[in-house]
Order: sequence, then structure tokens, then C-alpha cells
Amino acid sequence: MHEDELFFMRKSWVFNPEEKSPKRDDSHLGMATRALHAGFHPLMDMEQFRAFVPPLVPSMTYPYQTFGEIPYPVYGRTKTPTAALLEERLASLEGGQACLTAASGSQALFNLIFNMARPGDNVVTSLNIFGEGYKQAAVIFPERCGVDFRFVKNPADPQSWDKEIDDKTKLVWVETPSNPTLFVTDITAVANVAHARGVPLMVDNTTATAALQKPIALGADIVLLSITKFLAGNGTVLGGAIVGPEALIEDVRWNTTEFVGAIMQPFDSWLTLQYLETLDMRMARHSANSQQIAEFLADHPKVEHVNHTGLPNHPQYDLAQRQMRGPGGLMSFVVKGDMAGAAAVMNAFQLICHAVTFGTSRTICMHPPTITHEHMTPDERASVGIHDGLIRLSVGLEDPADLIADLDQALEKL
Ligand SMILES: Cc1ncc(COP(=O)(O)O)c(C=O)c1O
Repeated sequence: MHEDELFFMRKSWVFNPEEKSPKRDDSHLGMATRALHAGFHPLMDMEQFRAFVPPLVPSMTYPYQTFGEIPYPVYGRTKTPTAALLEERLASLEGGQACLTAASGSQALFNLIFNMARPGDNVVTSLNIFGEGYKQAAVIFPERCGVDFRFVKNPADPQSWDKEIDDKTKLVWVETPSNPTLFVTDITAVANVAHARGVPLMVDNTTATAALQKPIALGADIVLLSITKFLAGNGTVLGGAIVGPEALIEDVRWNTTEFVGAIMQPFDSWLTLQYLETLDMRMARHSANSQQIAEFLADHPKVEHVNHTGLPNHPQYDLAQRQMRGPGGLMSFVVKGDMAGAAAVMNAFQLICHAVTFGTSRTICMHPPTITHEHMTPDERASVGIHDGLIRLSVGLEDPADLIADLDQALEKL
């Protein structure tokens, strides 16, 4: 069946680089205030709901009285009240017009690209992207949907991005700072290049969060978020979101999510609303802790290299200082001895544990070459600094002296 014959609820979004997103009513408020108030105030709806805490509504269907009158929300696949509240809060934090949540960050990415690109189209990105994103880009979309992905050769050079864009490019996708090597891409420069070619820019803001970086204010059109990481903050929730123009968000909601489901559940949405209340102060603490650890590791004789945007020898240090409000909690470092060296250090940790996520309150470590980026070719891994001795560290909220002591004793084992 041809697409036109299917029943689509909304018109496809058409990007217009001239169209500026309207300023949000709450844009005069600070980040920490919006994380507590956007979308819900206890006195907002005294008639229907009178409580200090936002409502958790675990219903998947929304009854209506009159035949033919379709209310909104009507069914959980497109919208639930608690996720809608979270969507409003995330849109506010990112300074975007609207937001759509999804069952995970990977699902949000998938829904966005699936909705925007058709067979023969392409998406321009770099190899500085998270592992599952790379798998979608390198295999899933090209082989199953006929959507090609182009990886720019030199992501530090805006012209390198320009070179890959053509009249079939539907989206430019930047992840900054990148997982796991903290490569920093110039959001404004790439936005200018993309817009000159009539293409929207999506920035994955998962590692920095709105507390440390504002992609939309810097020129991006769309923000991708894994809620699973710092936004939820303690490893209890799997979720994702896209923030962007309302017409795009409603296009994805009604023309993809409506058919595939995979929504963020009400309880997970509600938990995230609680965790977001402390996002600003958590990110400040993650940043302060990781800075101390990066400085300790940078001087350590068993460590070959440290990736941390707060170290002056980071290749994009100046850009990171301009573009971000702090380094955040994600960092990585290369130990001597390649894979065996990484294994020896990771197995010696006593406080820090191995786990496949980041952004949690407790510090965790992970080995990207074997766990998340194992499908990249060795050459691709080498080109983005994912060496066999690389250990990714998600620095938590513990006392930094205890983390440094654990790292010190583990590095002693090398
Ligand atoms: C930068 C980044 N974006 C998106 C995702 C996807 O998030 P999720 O794990 O919620 O699918 C990840 C996961 O590691 C990530 O690192």
C-alpha cells in the first residue's frame, strides 16, 4: 500500500530555516526553577487536582461520553497525562517548543529518523555517537529502510559537515560531548552549515543535559535525550525524548509513535519528574567530582590519556568552555597495557562497579571497545579514540576522595 493511502493524522513537518521558534513564556526563569515548576504548579488546577506533587495517572485509555467526540488524550500510545507533564518540563528545560517522550533514548532516535527519512534519503552524522546509535546508522536504517548515513571525516571542521550534505539529506545529527570520548562539536558552526543547505540540526544533549548546555539557543532545531542517564539520574528509569518545533513533535507522535507504541510509561515519567527537581545541583556535583578525578588521572603514570572537557589539553577545550557550563560527569581514560590493562584496573575496583549506563548517582565504569562500540571496525574505533585500554567512567555523587582512593588502588594493580 502506498503511504498516501494510509491514514495519517498530521501533515509531515517541513523544515524552514527562516522560521524561528517562538520564545517560551517561562524563558525568563532560571533552569533550576523551571526544573521544579514547568508544566505543573500546585495551584494550577485546583478544581480537578489539588496536591503538592504532580499527578501519576497510570491509565492507558481515556473514556469519553459522546459518540464521535474524540478527546485528547484518548489512548496511551499517543499521550498520557503524566508523560505530557514531563514533556512540557523537558521542552521548558531545553527551551524548545514541544517534546515527545519515548520508551528509551534509542527509541526516540529511531522514531525521529524513521519519521523524517524515506528510502533514498540520508542523514549526516559523525562517528562520535553512542553505540546503539551507530548500529542504527551503520546497519539498521541502511539495510532495512534504505536510509543512508554519512559519517563526516573531520567533525571539527564545519566544511567537512557541509561536504556530506546533499539534496537528499533530511537531518544533521551531532552528539556533543560524545559518548565515550567526549569529542566536542561546534553546535553553532554546524547549525549554520546545515541551515544554509536547508537541513535541520539535531543535537544529542544526553551527556551534558540542559543544565550544562543549551543546543537550541546555540542554533540547533531538535534535541535528542536519553532520560535513562543524568535526567533520571540513578538507574531506575529507561526513557528518551525529542524536543523541537511543535509541528515536528506532533508529526512524530501521530505518524510514528501512534503506530509503533513504545512510549514512556506513566510511572517512569512520574519518577523522572521527581529526579529532574535536583538536576541542576546534581550536574554541578557531577562536574566538580569529575574535574577532580580527571586532574588526578592526568598526572597518573599508569594512565596514557584522559578525555575530559575540563582539562586544558582537551582538543576542543576553548569550545567546551564557550558552549557548556561545566564538564558533567562523563569522562574516559586510556590505561597502559591495552585490553589487559583495562581489565586489570576494572576488576580491581572496590567502590566503582561495572555497568552499562552512565549518569547515575553512583560511579560506574564500562569498557566501550567490547560493550557498546564493538560493532565499529577497529579503524573506526581508532579514528575516534576508542582504544582497547579505554575505560569509560561515569562519575557519581560520592565523596571525590573515596573515588580517587579507589582509582589509585586499582591502578596500583597494573
Ligand atoms: C549519547 C546517548 N544518546 C542516546 C542514548 C540512548 O539512550 P537509551 O539507553 O535510553 O536508549 C545513549 C545511550 O547510551 C547515549 O549514550
